[in-house]
Amino acid sequence: HRTQVGIIGCGPSGLLLGALLFRSGIDSIIIEEQSRSDVESNTRAGVLEQSTIDLLDEVDINERVLKEGIIQRCINIQFNGERISVPITEYTEGKVSTFYSQNLVVQDLIESRLKTNQRLWFDIEYARIERHDKTDDGQRPLIKFRRRNSNKEELIECDFIAGCDGGASKCCRHSIPKDEIRTIRKSYPYSWLSILVDSPPNGHEVVYSFDKTNGFALHSLRSPTKSRYHLQVSVDDKLEDWPDERIWSQLNKRLTLKDKSWKLNEGAIIHRALFSTRTSMTIPMQYKRLFLVGDAAHIVPPTAAKGLNVAVKDARILAEAIIDVYDNNTFDKLNNYTDKCLIHISEAVEFAIYMTSLLHKLDLSNENNEINEFDEILQRARQYQFQHSSALRRHIAQMFVS
Ligand code: FAD
Ligand code: DHB
Repeated sequence: HRTQVGIIGCGPSGLLLGALLFRSGIDSIIIEEQSRSDVESNTRAGVLEQSTIDLLDEVDINERVLKEGIIQRCINIQFNGERISVPITEYTEGKVSTFYSQNLVVQDLIESRLKTNQRLWFDIEYARIERHDKTDDGQRPLIKFRRRNSNKEELIECDFIAGCDGGASKCCRHSIPKDEIRTIRKSYPYSWLSILVDSPPNGHEVVYSFDKTNGFALHSLRSPTKSRYHLQVSVDDKLEDWPDERIWSQLNKRLTLKDKSWKLNEGAIIHRALFSTRTSMTIPMQYKRLFLVGDAAHIVPPTAAKGLNVAVKDARILAEAIIDVYDNNTFDKLNNYTDKCLIHISEAVEFAIYMTSLLHKLDLSNENNEINEFDEILQRARQYQFQHSSALRRHIAQMFVS
């Protein structure tokens, strides 16, 4: 096979990159290890920033999100049962965020790609990047892959490869010689237990809640009839440690208001998963003609819903740079890919780390007691500032939607 851009991974970043390239007449092939139905049903992100909606608009794949997406104009942050509403639209000259499930974004992008006969192959058993060692000039990178239930190896010769293969990035990030990149990491001593619930959310706004006794909880939504909740749990916890009664009891304790004026709507839990709260950044995001995009290059802590939004921002920057090569025969933008991306990635990571430290219960039981006590003092100071400074709340609104 032959293409201009070989894209490994059919998540939001790979699909959006393909759509942006297609609009400029640049050919791509996407290969994906999972089946189409698995990719389309993955329960993950669901809050889209204005810039992500604008991007879907640019590639003309916005019909369903405009119809079914739920607009959010305020976010709520509460400390120990006292809630503060942050009017994001008022504070950002009209910007909003939109609830729309990641799997619907993925479905819409796949449908549009297949309708326009662009190549997208699911069920790839393994893929690796060839002609990629230090002795090769890297000018004509090659993807070698095999489809599930086939013993035939196939090759894709590419001008460029986009590594959009998600956080583990077994194929792309791991193909880069270790001394050519560096990954910096930070992890937290707690996980999130995330559930999808078959019951209407209480209002169309997120509620971030810090409860000093029990910890962090988050109320969110995916549709008028589906609610999404995330709970801070211990890093060693397993799903079996969290039967339904314990989940609801903790959510009620953590999200209830002092004046009891808000209550959550319990319902059947239709999906549950535990995931670690961590952050990482790989620098540079380029090796020869391979470019890492989205989660393959960075994981943003979950508190702030930035992961998907950051991933598609990378895709836009890479698309613009590749288009510049074909249109103007200049590699300047492409060679500046990492530096340009680092601006929005660092901002998102900073904001997500801030929100994480503002809202999670610190674990005072471990050996590092003194440091944690200090962290607790800083956390109280940050919470006080949030309660008393409208300038800070305006800043948070801007960071949330941009
Ligand atoms: P992905 O969506 O991970 O896509 C990568 C694709 O590559 C996958 O389809 C994978 O199957 C495929 N792939 C992997 N290896 C190969 C290979 N060797 N060959 C071919 N294909 C391969 N973000 C938020 O903003 N808000 C949230 O609420 C939120 N919740 C999350 C919950 C969970 C459980 C997880 C894991 C993530 C969550 N995120 C959230 C993060 C968000 O989902 C990601 O940032 C986003 O999916 C990144 O998109 P991506 O295209 O870079 O990677
Ligand atoms: C959601 C996830 C987040 O991390 C967040 O900050 C807000 C909402 C969600 O799953 O909807």
